[in-house]
Amino acid sequence: MATRVLIGGQWGDEGKGKIVDVLTEKAEWIARFQGGNNAGHTVKVGDRKYVLHLIPSGILREGKTCILGNGCVIDPAGFLTELAEVHAGGIDTEGRLWISDRAQLALPYHKAMDGARESRHQEAGVKIGTTKRGIGPAYVDKMQRTGLRAGDVLVAGFAEKLRKNVQDHNQLLKIHGVDELDEEAVLEEVLAATERMKPMIVDTTVMLNRAVANGESVLFEGAQGTMLDIDHGSYPFVTSSNTTSGGAASGTGVPPNRIEDVIGVVKAYTTRVGEGPFPTELFDAQGDEIAKVGDEFGATTGRARRCGWFDAVVARYAVMVNGVNWWAITKLDVLDGFETLKICVAYDVNGERIEHLPGQIETFAACTPVYEEMPGWKCPTTQARTWEDLPENCRKYIQRLEELTGAPAGFVSVGPKRDETIITPSAPADIR
Ligand code: IMP
Repeated sequence: MATRVLIGGQWGDEGKGKIVDVLTEKAEWIARFQGGNNAGHTVKVGDRKYVLHLIPSGILREGKTCILGNGCVIDPAGFLTELAEVHAGGIDTEGRLWISDRAQLALPYHKAMDGARESRHQEAGVKIGTTKRGIGPAYVDKMQRTGLRAGDVLVAGFAEKLRKNVQDHNQLLKIHGVDELDEEAVLEEVLAATERMKPMIVDTTVMLNRAVANGESVLFEGAQGTMLDIDHGSYPFVTSSNTTSGGAASGTGVPPNRIEDVIGVVKAYTTRVGEGPFPTELFDAQGDEIAKVGDEFGATTGRARRCGWFDAVVARYAVMVNGVNWWAITKLDVLDGFETLKICVAYDVNGERIEHLPGQIETFAACTPVYEEMPGWKCPTTQARTWEDLPENCRKYIQRLEELTGAPAGFVSVGPKRDETIITPSAPADIR
């Protein structure tokens, strides 16, 4: 492998962190290209558990270089807290963690705005259910060209620009009826944190393109998932960046024709956090069972995730908009105890069968799943290490997901640990 993108094929929380961790064995560089510390990757190395939000999970492997690309939004205080946790695990990050000078900063006033907007949306009945990390407001500033970038920290005038932005946002907070921020306290906090980030802020576009030109391998690590993409997701119940594979090019400055293939990660069922339509959501004992066995609580906010059956319409759409070459199917073991399993193969909208994802949220909300049922395998799979080790019904379930979505499963994850991963006969040649 030289250059490969990894993305989420559902609504985030697909278990990308673990697959990235498995894939980074073969990659020299790992680059985040969008989002900020709204993401949450839980990775188990030995018996130690790391919950990473912004820093690529590749940092957990010695000798790998990690990049936060220009498409990311970086909360300086959050970044430093996370870095301290990584260091506490005995991991040295010196010279192998770099922040793009073109990345945007997510600052305390963005967080305050996120909270204020969500409260207003709640009153109006259109709450998004954000992670309240200030992600949306930070991208708003980027798009209206008033945002501060990491590179601004390196040149004169940063404190003045910051002061002006705090004052402007205080005006907005006032309009929202929310307490204004203490200007001096924000300046003190942000200036102290950004000062510590300075040695890590560089031109990562040149750095990455050089690596690619030298034939070094780069893994582009997506956060969130296809259905949370600002353009292609279930708008407006989405995050504020391009979570799909195209974002890897715009979010790092590595051109599309230098990116070779795409791995999509999906759970063997579906979950989502936050608000918005979710056709296969379960409100019964089976949903509770998935939540309990799958430990479905958000890594970032601790919120309970909504759970449901595998939605092949969503996954098929993810194959189309990302160009998924292989799936990594995660948390298969969570389904071990079920007598029968359901897969959503199409939607019914007011009596009409549709096989694609509608562009309007109102239509999506009116979709009810058309299910196909398959027998479960009713035995533990966590000990399986090869494709042949999996029970027959389990292999049939995976094969059906492949047929319905149009991409082969290269990886199947049967537990949270690194070695609880099956590399299938259809996995990429460099991994097999
Ligand atoms: P935001 O990214 O905080 O603005 O939140 C927007 C939507 O994306 C909400 O529904 C969040 O729950 C969801 N979201 C953001 N990050 C993640 C993630 O890493 N996993 C799952 N959902 C996420």
